[in-house]
This record gives sequence, C-alpha cells and structure tokens, in this order.
Amino acid sequence: MFFYEEVKTIMKTIHGQYVWIIGASSGIGAELAIALSQQGANVILSARREPELQSVRLQLTGANHQVLAFDISDHSQTINAFKKIKRLDRVIFMAAVYDPSEQGRTDIAFIRKSLQVNLGGVYNMLDVATSFFATQGHGQIVLCGSVSGYFGLPNAQPYSSTKAAITNLAESLYVEYQSKNIDVKLISPGFVSTPMTSKNDFEMPMVIDTLTAVKAIVKGLTSGAFEIHFPKRFTRLVKLLSLLPYWLAFKVSRKLIK
Ligand SMILES: NC(=O)c1ccc[n+]([C@@H]2O[C@H](COP(=O)([O-])OP(=O)(O)OC[C@H]3O[C@@H](n4cnc5c(N)ncnc54)[C@H](OP(=O)(O)O)[C@@H]3O)[C@@H](O)[C@H]2O)c1
Repeated sequence: MFFYEEVKTIMKTIHGQYVWIIGASSGIGAELAIALSQQGANVILSARREPELQSVRLQLTGANHQVLAFDISDHSQTINAFKKIKRLDRVIFMAAVYDPSEQGRTDIAFIRKSLQVNLGGVYNMLDVATSFFATQGHGQIVLCGSVSGYFGLPNAQPYSSTKAAITNLAESLYVEYQSKNIDVKLISPGFVSTPMTSKNDFEMPMVIDTLTAVKAIVKGLTSGAFEIHFPKRFTRLVKLLSLLPYWLAFKVSRKLIK
C-alpha cells in the first residue's frame, strides 16, 4: 500500500504504465493514445467501433497494447471488458455523444442516450476501476468534462448538462478518493477540431487542433493540478461568465442566440 504523496510521485511518469482510454476510436482519445504510446505507455483502447480501434492500434509505438471494443453505457459489457484487463495504472474517460441539431436537443431517445453514455458510462467505469485501484493501492481516474459545463449556454443541451455533471462528479471524487490513493483529474476542453465538432454549423471561437489539445492533456496527466483546461484564453473567459451574478451572465448569454 502506498501513501497519497507516493501515489503523486508514481503519477509523474507515463513510461511503462498501463493506460485505459475509453473513447479511443477517434478524435482526442485516438490522438492521446498515440501520444501516450510515444511516451512509453501500454495503451488499452476502447470504444464501440472495433475496426477504428484496430486502425489506431496500428499507429501506436510499442507492441504491448490491447483493443477492447464494447459499449460503455452497458454495465455488463463494461464488467466483461474489464475482466480482460490484467494491469492498470490510469483510466481516461473520453467517450461522449453529441448532436447540435434541433432534433438532438429535443429527441427523448437521444437525450436518454446522452445521459447513459456521457454520464452513465462514467459510473460504469468507476464501478470496475475504483475497487481495482483501491486494492492495488494506487491509480488515476481522468474524466473529460467541457467548458460547456461551466455555465448553461443556450442551445447547448443535453450535452452541456452531462458535462456539468461530470465536473461536479470529478470535484467530489478528487477529495473522496485521496483516502484510497486514487488521483482524480478533470479535462475541460474548449473547442477542438474533431469528428464530434465537425457537426457544428457555427464558427467555433478559438478552436484548436487535436495535437495541441493532446499536448496539454499529456502535460496535465503528470502534473499536480486537478483540472487540465485548454485553450486557456478561451476557458478563462467562460469561467469568468460562471462567476458573474446571474442577471449579468444571462445578459451575455442572451447575446449568443442573436
Ligand atoms: N471536440 C471538442 O471540441 C470537445 C470540447 C469539449 C469536450 N470534448 C470532449 O472530449 C471527448 C472526446 O471527444 P472528441 O471531440 O474527440 O469526439 P469523438 O471523435 O466523437 O470521440 C468520441 C469517442 O467516444 C466514443 N463513444 C461514443 N459512444 C460510446 C459508447 N457508447 N461506448 C464507448 N465509446 C463510445 C466514440 O467511439 P465509438 O463511436 O467507436 O463508440 C469516440 O471514440 C468527449 O468527452 C467530448 O465531450 C470535446
């Protein structure tokens, strides 16, 4: 059993560690898998689409990687997938669904799916990973929120409410899990150019590419900071909005629908 300070030291290096990325078949998760493998990590790649995961696998440096295709919103699939993992130091939860169209905002089946994948999926992962990390005496859990979770902006649901919940959940777990020697981190991206945001029909402010996003994440994973947010000039602006009194914040957010 390690002490929490020793766990923080273990988390300062990626080389030789086993990292499970859920949501690794495209976008930020896929690029992150490549970057972490270049740092010497053994990566376990998960998402639903196995062919895409296999193609990411071919781009990894090193030989000791694993592909585990399953649906994270399904609890029994998560348990069965986890049985195939023998060693684990970190789990990074990147999976999410998003539909910015009017239909995506009002279709109750899609709303339910968003809750089941974006938030329910995190709980399924926590159910298997937490006891594993607690037993081995160390581990790291990384959740992906979004700046859209900082403040409820118009036309952003149901996605933003799931991301606000993730931020809230990560804040709770950070303190709770210290006693179990589990480090918790929160990733809060601004706009990143990925298959997910290619559906947006508006100009994304201060959008960055996946490589820039991944550089910030890799640096943040081994740092002592709880939140990894980027690009900072954008995330700080949205954070500021959430600090304003409601009458003023709503004045600003009303302008966004004009
Ligand atoms: N791009 C941005 O601007 C931005 C901004 C803020 C936050 N984020 C967050 O960053 C993370 C990565 O997003 P991205 O932009 O890289 O989008 P992406 O390319 O669409 O990646 C989403 C990933 O989630 C996986 N996924 C979806 N449903 C799943 C399920 N039921 N079970 C397992 N895996 C599932 C997808 O794989 P399969 O389809 O193969 O299952 C895919 O690998 C997400 O959490 C997103 O909310 C992105």
